Amino acid sequence: MLAEAVLPLSNKLRLAVLVSGGGSTLQNIIDAVESGALQAEITLVVSSRRDALALERAKRHALPHIVLRPRDYSAASSFDHALCAALEVVRADLVVLAGYLTALGSETVSAFSGRIMNIHPSLLPAFGGHGYYGRHVHAAVLHHGCKVSGATVMFVTPEVDAGPIILQEAVPVLDDDTVETLAKRVAEVEKRLYPLAIKLYGAGRLSLKGRRVHIAEEAEHEASAY
Ligand code: GRF
Repeated sequence: MLAEAVLPLSNKLRLAVLVSGGGSTLQNIIDAVESGALQAEITLVVSSRRDALALERAKRHALPHIVLRPRDYSAASSFDHALCAALEVVRADLVVLAGYLTALGSETVSAFSGRIMNIHPSLLPAFGGHGYYGRHVHAAVLHHGCKVSGATVMFVTPEVDAGPIILQEAVPVLDDDTVETLAKRVAEVEKRLYPLAIKLYGAGRLSLKGRRVHIAEEAEHEASAY
């Protein structure tokens, strides 16, 4: 029966992960789920590119995956509608952007308002927004002569890289850093930070006050549940 088929198989946090590239972020989440550090299940991986290495990772771990490319739709709004529908079909609790290089449309952002996260390899609001992705971010940080950089996990709002910040962690920029060495240092931080943010979300410990994300202490959260 259809009604039975759509019943949740478990009460774990249902994640949909959106990818476009190498998939190191997806792999971090897979590892955290498989090790039991993150109580969640990846119900869908959506790739905006057919050739994304991230798709291979999804296949290797037997995760449901689809390719949805903006170029296959005549209008941005139809692509937005198709993506939103795919996320709704799998009843995603949280949409996790993982190196996803396509801007989300208004239908998806509003349908999943407060339920979409992204990670960015700088201390936002510095070096964020259009054009700042991957190695471009680290190149700009080095070019500017910054002494620190880092990673930011945020909720997604219509403006790129401008949503409320959930977690941030700094790393030093060393005198002899190259784009590669700095990227590696930031990636180490990302590996811990993103699963932690998802875990906090799943535990119901994140709340929004204006632009500020409040993280409840474990005890504080338990107390408010009664
Ligand atoms: C990282 O810079 C991360 O901050 C950003 O995407 C990059 C990783 O790409 N969101 P991928 O996960 O290896 O495809």
